[in-house]
Amino acid sequence: MTSAFDAFAAALPKAELHLHIEGTLEPELMFELARRNSAKLRFSSVEAIKAAYDFDGLQSFLDIYYEGAGVLRAERDFHDLAWAYFTRVAPMNLKHAEIFFDPQTHTSRSVPYEAVISGLTQACRRAEKELGITSKLILCFLRHLDEDAALKTLAEALPFGGIAGVGLDSSEKDRPPSLFKKVFAKARAAGLRCVAHAGEEGPPAYIVEALDLLKVERVDHGVRCLEDPELVKRLAAERTALTVCPLSNHKLRVFDSLADHNLRDLLAAGVLASVHSDDPAYFGGYVDANYRDTARALGLTKAELRTLARNSFLSSWLSGPEKDRHLAAIDVIAS
Ligand code: HPA
Ligand code: ZN
Repeated sequence: MTSAFDAFAAALPKAELHLHIEGTLEPELMFELARRNSAKLRFSSVEAIKAAYDFDGLQSFLDIYYEGAGVLRAERDFHDLAWAYFTRVAPMNLKHAEIFFDPQTHTSRSVPYEAVISGLTQACRRAEKELGITSKLILCFLRHLDEDAALKTLAEALPFGGIAGVGLDSSEKDRPPSLFKKVFAKARAAGLRCVAHAGEEGPPAYIVEALDLLKVERVDHGVRCLEDPELVKRLAAERTALTVCPLSNHKLRVFDSLADHNLRDLLAAGVLASVHSDDPAYFGGYVDANYRDTARALGLTKAELRTLARNSFLSSWLSGPEKDRHLAAIDVIAS
């Protein structure tokens, strides 16, 4: 049964700023694409896939996530993946999405970059026209690979356009942001905006590097900042956005339970934190579940939920009247 509190959470207009499109690949679509592309899967059923989603940290998730993405081959597959995402979140009052994609996961399997960007772009345009959801694409470099590979990817991507920014994802331990300074400088010079995953499993020093060396305007995850009080003060003073993913953090054992999550402490410290879903097909919930389950586990108030929804738009790359319209719509949702 839906409570009045859940209905309030559901009604809030929201922006999704931390979502890997490959992480929205539901097992049912994985099977369909495997069949369509004659790709082999080592799982024999949807249940068998779901049973494998038991992770002991980021790497154990990434291993299975890259394996699943292997069924994506053609332009149409990328369209279908993103379109499935948009149709799923439209009823959750998701109004705007800034979406990560990992081209190296695909180009390394001889999938042309053009197939990836064209398929995703078509779905984004369709979502705006048919569902009223606006979106932007963020190309993520895989940090387990070297900077030369990232530079090659950027050079390949730039002529196609269609991306608003770049990000940095994949295995964080021992892969500090400083390794990617050159490619981020090139991206900035090309007019792209910059974000990076930091402080998920990596130490607070990686967040500082992302800010100072990569000059990111948002930090993805960033939850380990609380280990460094000076850094927390800086994030709050500079109004640097943290895109926090509570269900992901729980599933990947960054926190032992959702009730142990530090989201409330981040808000109390004045950090511009918002709630997102990371890889919802793998972590058990889209944006609605992230709001609802986190609110329940932490005992968040309606005012705090409203702040989180506001923060999602304040942290987005929307501007002017478009942003103001969403903020105003949040303010009029009755408590
Ligand atoms: N962290 C790092 N890389 C990722 C993640 C994440 O949570 N999800 C997909 N790629
Ligand atoms: Zn992520």
